[in-house]
Amino acid sequence: MDSEHIGDSDWSQLQTNLEATIPVYDRINRFATLGQDQRWRKGVRAQITPGSDVLEVGCGPGTFAERIEGCEVTCLDPIPAMLEVARPRVNNARTARGESEATFVEGTAESIPLDDNSFDFVCCLFSFRDFQDKRKGLEEILRVLKPGGKLIICDAGKANFLHGWMGWLWMKVWVGTYARLICKQDDHPWKWLTKTYVHFGTTRQYKKMMRDVGYTPVKGRLLFPGMAVRFIAQKSE
Ligand SMILES: C[S@@+](CC[C@H](N)C(=O)[O-])C[C@H]1O[C@@H](n2cnc3c(N)ncnc32)[C@H](O)[C@@H]1O
Repeated sequence: MDSEHIGDSDWSQLQTNLEATIPVYDRINRFATLGQDQRWRKGVRAQITPGSDVLEVGCGPGTFAERIEGCEVTCLDPIPAMLEVARPRVNNARTARGESEATFVEGTAESIPLDDNSFDFVCCLFSFRDFQDKRKGLEEILRVLKPGGKLIICDAGKANFLHGWMGWLWMKVWVGTYARLICKQDDHPWKWLTKTYVHFGTTRQYKKMMRDVGYTPVKGRLLFPGMAVRFIAQKSE
């Protein structure tokens, strides 16, 4: 595993562990971020113009997608069990708002089974870190974005080595202890949160990767209190 790639065996173990987090996913997320994840998700939604075609890559159990309002929504995830949980959750919320159902697609960021130039916004909430090939995922997202469309990524932040070390300590001790208590097993699946974070790159590195892939302009900044990063990268008109 490095800042750009996750090997086949690690990625398949990661998928098994992500699936095992489903029953406690929202609960541990809230605890791990001291409730800040809700504010960060709201911040991403605020960037989306109503009436847009939105794709969420790595939708997980639907935590973000259920609250995208006034848009056509497509949810993509490689884990069928995630899509099974996300589908009723997102569609119940949409139906209650009088909106049409969302579309659910099984697939990875690296090989998106959707047409070119289809979306105004592509959002990746805490899933970019799990891409097996981050550059390939960024290229595929660029392909499915409409000209002028935007990619918005929100993930665990890492400004530099020291900041990364503090993030590692936080995940290992704080999140790890809580996850062990909730999951009631020493080898709990949230261990992978720390593993993928250790190999995650810095804000500067991914901004450069996005520019190399062809996005312009590219912005990236840490979100208060420094635990998360948000990138906004545009496809040229
Ligand atoms: C931590 S969950 C994030 C769920 C949700 N987006 C949220 O807001 O909390 C990460 C999700 O990314 C998905 N994922 C992992 N690798 C992926 C890939 N290569 N392409 C797309 N999604 C991926 C996982 O299956 C998982 O559901």
